[in-house]
This record gives sequence, C-alpha cells and structure tokens, in this order.
Amino acid sequence: MRRIGASEARHFLGHSDESEEVERAVLKTLLIALKTRDADTYDHSKRTVKISLLLGRECGLDYRELRALEFGALLHDIGKIGVPDVVLRKPGKLNDFELAMMRRHPSLGQEILRGFSFLDDARIIVAQHHEKWDGSGYPLGLRGEEITLSARVLLVADAFDAMTTDRVYRPAKSFDEAAAELDSCAGTDFDPGVVAAFHRFPRSDWERLTRGKHLSAVPDYRPGPPATDGFVDRVLLNRFAT
Ligand SMILES: [Fe+2]
Repeated sequence: MRRIGASEARHFLGHSDESEEVERAVLKTLLIALKTRDADTYDHSKRTVKISLLLGRECGLDYRELRALEFGALLHDIGKIGVPDVVLRKPGKLNDFELAMMRRHPSLGQEILRGFSFLDDARIIVAQHHEKWDGSGYPLGLRGEEITLSARVLLVADAFDAMTTDRVYRPAKSFDEAAAELDSCAGTDFDPGVVAAFHRFPRSDWERLTRGKHLSAVPDYRPGPPATDGFVDRVLLNRFAT
C-alpha cells in the first residue's frame, strides 16, 4: 500500500498547518491543567493511550477513530479536575455521596471539551468511558453496542492499567491476575470482543508496553503529526519509546 506523507494527510483531512498548531496548543493546555491537578491521573492517562491504540487497532478501528481514541484516552479523566481532593485522594472506600461526586467526572470531562470541534469524537469517548457492556455503568447505563466501540476499548485499557498499578488503597495486581479479571468480567463489564483482542497479543507485548510504568521512563506527551499509514506504530515506537 502506498504511504502518504504528513502534508498530504493534512490536505486529505482538511487540516491546515495553522489548525494543527491550534489543536496542539489546546491539547497542551488541557494536559498541563490535568498534570497540575493530579499527576497520577496524567501518568495513568499516558499509559492508557498506548494500551488503547494497540487494542483499538486490533479491534479494527480506522485512522480517524484511532486519532479520536488517542485524544479520548489521553483526556478520559480530565473531568477529575472538578472532583474535590477529599474525594479524589481518599485512601479508603468512598461513601455514597463521594461516589456520586466521583461519578460526575465523565460528564464534567464532556463539558470541558465542548467547543473544540477536533475533539468532538473524543468527547463521546470521554462521556462513555465508564459505561459497561451489561448496562451497569454510568452515567447513562448504556449497554452493548449502544456504547461506541472506542469507549469499550478504552474501558478495557483503563482497567488493565489501573489493575496493574499500585493505588493508595491496594497494591498492583500481577499480569496473570489482571488478565483473569478481564476474563471474569467479559460479558458483564467488558465487551467480550475487546477482551478477546487483548488475548491475541502475547503476554510479552503487554509487559513490554507497561514496563517501567512506575518510573519516569514515559516521556511527556507531545501531540504528534497528523496520521499517515503506520501512524499507530509511530506513536507506539517513537512518541512513547521507553
Ligand atoms: Fe474515569
């Protein structure tokens, strides 16, 4: 297949160099806000981008969908900017009131991103990233294919990274424990097709991807050039090289 260059891709997508610059500036501002508010969430979001893009490509998302997934994964918890510290950093279990405050973050994120047309598709992913396959998620209780595939992909990526990372209230699970949990929740929390896609990658790929996650080995996120063929590979191999 013929590969297309960056300027050709911009033309195809109707992007000018100027709008690309504006988009990068918007993303940078949002990410600085997220990092300033909660560095842990920022680091988690960067790792979740990598996992989401691998899974998304395996699930058949096209370039435009992967680009939206990249932004959606990166900004999925931007709404936590609006959740008070006493809830966000509570080491113990949240009570009902605190849980309700925490569960506002997908809708808050959707509001924060409103008005940036290049984030329209990502905004849907942000709004739906806690919806579950069986309809038990929030905020709307969407079920099955009512949830956009990209949000179903993000839910698995988000859960896998969360499970394999130390949290204030519990230590990290092993890879085997996390994979078993994905299996046990396939068909309830998770789209079984996305969990199947997870298992099509060898364990070594996931371990390589998440290696060094507790260190400062993951460089700061820099919005990359517009897509060409091999976009995801470049994201994974270059932008997030560890
Ligand atoms: Fe979230």
